Amino acid sequence: MKHFTSVNDIVSPSFGGVGEAINALVKKALVYKANPFKDKTLGANKRIGCLFLNPSMRTRLSTQIAAQNLGMEAIIFNVGSEGWALEFEEEAIMSGNTVEHVKDAAPIMGKYFDVLAIRTFPSLKNREDDYSELYIKQFIKYAGIPVVSLESATLHPLQSLTDIITIQEQIAVTPPLGGRGAKIVLTWAPHVKPLPQCVANSFSQWINAWGEADFVITHPEEYELDEQFTKGAVITHNQNEALKDADYVYVKNWSTFNDYGKIYCNDPEWMLTREKLKLTTNAKVMHCLPVRRNVELSDEILDSANSIVTQEASNRVWAAQAVLSTLLTSLKGGAE
Ligand code: CP
Repeated sequence: MKHFTSVNDIVSPSFGGVGEAINALVKKALVYKANPFKDKTLGANKRIGCLFLNPSMRTRLSTQIAAQNLGMEAIIFNVGSEGWALEFEEEAIMSGNTVEHVKDAAPIMGKYFDVLAIRTFPSLKNREDDYSELYIKQFIKYAGIPVVSLESATLHPLQSLTDIITIQEQIAVTPPLGGRGAKIVLTWAPHVKPLPQCVANSFSQWINAWGEADFVITHPEEYELDEQFTKGAVITHNQNEALKDADYVYVKNWSTFNDYGKIYCNDPEWMLTREKLKLTTNAKVMHCLPVRRNVELSDEILDSANSIVTQEASNRVWAAQAVLSTLLTSLKGGAE
């Protein structure tokens, strides 16, 4: 693995296909969960720079802990609030608010660090710009070291890897009845402000690539996601129909993709309730967090045994540790 910015980065000649590569990363993460300090010297004398252009709690702390478990030093830099405003456009005439070009900043970070991790949210103003992933691509182009996405304009791969780890852990304890594959439903939920499509795109991309579940996406008509991520899933605008016999319900809001970055329908009826959960096989409920209680997801669900959001968030450490360990092994010229 050279970088970690999407599921496509984990494919390697060591594995038959992307599904196998996902399962291998999940296995590695669960080994770390059982024994966090197993490779406590793998990252000795190595440093990761974690650049945050946007706020974070889970991603920041879990990445830092994962690095420390591997003996790697983690330096956090809140570029968005504490650094110079970065310019990303090539040949920009920098007479506006940006102070330093990524072309100048990234090579310096490439000298300071062995791995660079970046959080950079979309503007939600211009779809073409956001979906070009210019920011993360410019860091890859100019830093010259492995780059890890801590959530980019369109994807959140560490979250999605965590989600599959969590689902696999659950399946190991409670396999779906009748020996069938798990039914996983991604449902849109209401929110008070327009949010990125990253988590939903990424979850769809990883679950489709994993290929071991029946995957259904449900949302109001105006909230179609980019087909490049959803292709392979069943898509329905009927939430009740989608929830029928679901084993896992992944709840997330996102803003519109077609008429980009807007809130259209915000029907509170789309919020998951205990009544709706009766349609499922007593499904486990997931959310990447942070969550707006009683807007996106009800107290009665979040505070119930159906919710596995804390387990999910705690697994962020093991996902990050599996990814960093794979990158460190590659840096040392070892097999992935
Ligand atoms: N789920 C997630 O990425 O959380 P943070 O925004 O707190 O990092």
